[in-house]
Amino acid sequence: MRTPRGPPSRPALLLLLLLLGGAHGLFPEEPPPLSVAPRDYLNHYPVFVGSGPGRLSPSEDADDLNIQRVLRVNRTLFIGGRDNLYRVELEPPTSTEMRYQRKLTWPSNPSDINVCRMKGKQEGECRNFVKVLLLRDESTLFVCGSNAFNPVCANYSMDTLQPLGDNISGMARCPYDPKHANVALFSEGMLFTATVTDFLAIDAVIYRSLGDRPTLRTVKHDSKWFKEPYFVHAVEWGSHIYFFFREIAMEFNYLEKVVVSRVARVCKNDMGGSPRVLEKQWTSFLKARLNCSVPGDSHFYFNVLQAVTGVVSLGGRPVVLAVFSTPSNSIPGSAVCAFDMTQVAAVFEGRFREQKSPESIWTPVPEDQVPRPRPGCCAAPGMQYNASSAFPDEILNFVKTHPLMDEAVPSLGHAPWIVRTLMRHQLTRVAVDVGAGPWGNQTVVFLGSEAGTVLKFLVWPNASASGTTGPSVFLEEFETYRPDRCGWSGGGETGHRLLSLELDAASGGLLAAFPRCVVRVPVARCQQYSGCMK
Ligand SMILES: *[C@@H]1O[C@H](CO)[C@@H](O)[C@H](O)[C@H]1NC(C)=O
Ligand SMILES: *[C@@H]1O[C@H](CO)[C@@H](O)[C@H](O)[C@H]1NC(C)=O
Ligand SMILES: *[C@@H]1O[C@H](CO)[C@@H](O)[C@H](O)[C@H]1NC(C)=O
Ligand SMILES: *[C@@H]1O[C@H](CO)[C@@H](O)[C@H](O)[C@H]1NC(C)=O
Ligand SMILES: *[C@@H]1O[C@H](CO)[C@@H](O)[C@H](O)[C@H]1NC(C)=O
Ligand SMILES: *[C@@H]1O[C@H](CO)[C@@H](O)[C@H](O)[C@H]1NC(C)=O
Ligand SMILES: *[C@@H]1O[C@H](CO)[C@@H](O)[C@H](O)[C@H]1NC(C)=O
Repeated sequence: MRTPRGPPSRPALLLLLLLLGGAHGLFPEEPPPLSVAPRDYLNHYPVFVGSGPGRLSPSEDADDLNIQRVLRVNRTLFIGGRDNLYRVELEPPTSTEMRYQRKLTWPSNPSDINVCRMKGKQEGECRNFVKVLLLRDESTLFVCGSNAFNPVCANYSMDTLQPLGDNISGMARCPYDPKHANVALFSEGMLFTATVTDFLAIDAVIYRSLGDRPTLRTVKHDSKWFKEPYFVHAVEWGSHIYFFFREIAMEFNYLEKVVVSRVARVCKNDMGGSPRVLEKQWTSFLKARLNCSVPGDSHFYFNVLQAVTGVVSLGGRPVVLAVFSTPSNSIPGSAVCAFDMTQVAAVFEGRFREQKSPESIWTPVPEDQVPRPRPGCCAAPGMQYNASSAFPDEILNFVKTHPLMDEAVPSLGHAPWIVRTLMRHQLTRVAVDVGAGPWGNQTVVFLGSEAGTVLKFLVWPNASASGTTGPSVFLEEFETYRPDRCGWSGGGETGHRLLSLELDAASGGLLAAFPRCVVRVPVARCQQYSGCMK
């Protein structure tokens, strides 16, 4: 019995191409939005371009902002850029410009810049780019900067933006290169990060530090654990932290590199292995493929994970929504799939997959060959083993050599909720409002393209779960990039690229961040969603 597990084959891509013109089959038609915002629509909404209090126009060049991260805490927005951190109050709402109330300049010191330049990096890279921006407690931010390829982190006062205490090393917490994707999350006082630990960006890790428990990491240079991962998101759910990423699949015996999307998890209370096996490393790290595919005779997979939401309750289920695309060298296409966290967790209770020898294909591990207690489980006081460091070597060895689960996580409804194949730009960001509409009981999904176009959909979680009616309606489309304020430059690294899309439900707004600006647009131009539906 052969099950289709592979990536899209050439014939599947061809088929996709053929179907783009046709009406039925693999893909449903892609109707246009019910409404498109007029061109001048954006001029009415505020933008942050680096202006401070009391200035009439931005004195700084928006190019210098180089925004990397934004963090909204209630009615305050923190913006981390290159060498600078800003605090912007979202209240009272303004119609013209968002200005910072505080600004902290945190440049790299000259010796770090010199070392960076000596190692052959460009002047523009040898600066301090804010790559981690988190709330640590009620009044403290935790900020890490790439610091001219010598990352550092420190606490900062939320109120004054002044540093609190000493700098600590940013290694394994923050990337060296500002271009690298990284993920960071605090839980129970512990910092969970996913990044690279070295200048050459070869050693990828999921790392835990700070807090009361030992520092832990993933196994170094083991392609079973990671192969060129690109980290996208992390969420806390139950007793685990889940990491979403994409990487090169090692379980396919193909010659060409194939990217797949994954979810991995670790126990929050992991204490590491024994002095013999997995010492100071995770004993609970497991990963599984995410299956976002269009059913049909020739199964089409969207393999390139771009963004994931936090866990929201949809139709009574704990769900994350994820946006995927096709690889950049293939036909542009994007899809949104929903994953139920209970189904994600169930896959980690399922079969493991292994490769018996370097030449053999990957196969499920028979259940009678899996040691007990189950590898990857969370040890806890009161159980047979009260801490992971007490696990027998047999368990630890099994986890070390079997991080991959056999099953892929199915998407809710076994099909994407939204598919877009006729767009010029891929969709790379997603935000969800589960309390939309006049009665606060409707679900609206916002999708952002690379260039800042936002597509707004109404979805019915229950309909999609049962797969009966069409699960979504395309309500409207609007731009969020303001070339008049943020710069006219076309794509590229430094200009017109959507970094993040965040819903600010309290003000009914959407915050779209680009390297040179943050734009705030209202989400409900159609005053009530039901009014937009025919
Ligand atoms: C992905 O899901 C589809 C639809 O349920 C299924 O047919 C296919 O076998 C799954 N693929 C993998 C790799 O599990
Ligand atoms: C922390 O970093 C800042 C900016 O690089 C620097 O001015 C300060 O001296 C550093 N402090 C320590 C203790 O290294
Ligand atoms: C944000 O608002 C909530 C509810 O008003 C409050 O409990 C919380 O302390 C606020 N957070 C911060 C960091 O001020
Ligand atoms: C940062 O703040 C936390 C509390 O929020 C504190 O426990 C920690 O010691 C501080 N770290 C430094 C380096 O000051
Ligand atoms: C969707 O289904 C769940 C569970 O079956 C139910 O609790 C919920 O009320 C339903 N929601 C709607 C809007 O029908
Ligand atoms: C586990 O039990 C041992 C004794 O059997 C004890 O020394 C140790 O402190 C316990 N560890 C935890 C985390 O409870
Ligand atoms: C939302 O609530 C209204 C009023 O209670 C109800 O008529 C409507 O069917 C609900 N919609 C959904 C999607 O549950």
